[in-house]
Amino acid sequence: MKGIILAGGTGSRLFPNTIAVSKQLLPIYDKPLIYYPLSVLMLAEIREILIISTEKDLPHYQQLLQDGSSLGLSLHYAAQKTPRGLADAFLVGEDFISQDSVCLVLGDNVFYGQNLSLLLQNAKKNIENGGAAVFGCMVRDPREFGVVEFDEQNRVISIEEKPRCPKSNYAVPGLYLYDNQVVRIAKQVQPSARGEIEITSVNNEYRKNGRLTVTLMGRGISWLDTGSPKGMHKASGFVKTVQEMQGFYIACIEEIAWRKGFISTEQLRRLGEQLSMTDYGKYILSIAEEGVK
Ligand code: DAU
Repeated sequence: MKGIILAGGTGSRLFPNTIAVSKQLLPIYDKPLIYYPLSVLMLAEIREILIISTEKDLPHYQQLLQDGSSLGLSLHYAAQKTPRGLADAFLVGEDFISQDSVCLVLGDNVFYGQNLSLLLQNAKKNIENGGAAVFGCMVRDPREFGVVEFDEQNRVISIEEKPRCPKSNYAVPGLYLYDNQVVRIAKQVQPSARGEIEITSVNNEYRKNGRLTVTLMGRGISWLDTGSPKGMHKASGFVKTVQEMQGFYIACIEEIAWRKGFISTEQLRRLGEQLSMTDYGKYILSIAEEGVK
């Protein structure tokens, strides 16, 4: 399975922060926002990843993450000409996806929780024989999201994009797994009222064909919104609190690469040394020192 991080858009809801800098490069506490969705793909053991952003912003992502080899990854980059919708990721990424299945994660979505790795492995298994897998997260106000409706048997009845009157409190977060049919399906999606080719239309196509699995993310997993300055501030506070309380870092991509066996302890140590002037770098070094997975 391949991975795509969609990290484009205009970031207009965060102006003036995002006039000169791409939203997904802004910090969530001690690391750039894109580290969080990248860490999710790494936890799913997806190592071949395409980063999609604007023509203007791509060089900054390349400067930050390079070809990914220092993390045992293979990173690719592609430009999206205009932000014409999330399903465009599969058109921009068509050649990259080739004959493979694909996991799309939105560049501004932050997930954290103990069972995340397991949840992702199970979702991968769910689509081994084709289909799509998405998630449902309980939120207080789902009107800004894709919203999933279930019947009494927990079967999905509908998914609606930003409904005025949501039929449930389960929002669909920005993490989606698809078989290779997704490219063909995305090509057929018509623009919505807001002029975008919606990921919700892609999901509904799979649902209509009985090929969509929706797994609920329970209380153990936090999904954090970074869509506004307040959301970013809250997410930063969450990361700071958890890291200080537990001593474990969230979305430390170097640590994940090592724990997953993508890099050796020596490679981890070298990555830590490059950042040794910061607490982030010192954390990496302490893990390399310990050397016990
Ligand atoms: O965050 C989860 C939600 O994401 C889902 O519940 C919705 O179903 C889904 O449509 C999406 O809603 P948003 O309104 O939050 O999407 P937004 O337009 O903010 O785009 C999400 C990210 O993707 C954002 O960081 C910008 C980037 N993006 C967006 C578009 C439309 C692109 O890179 N290219 C695009 O064409």
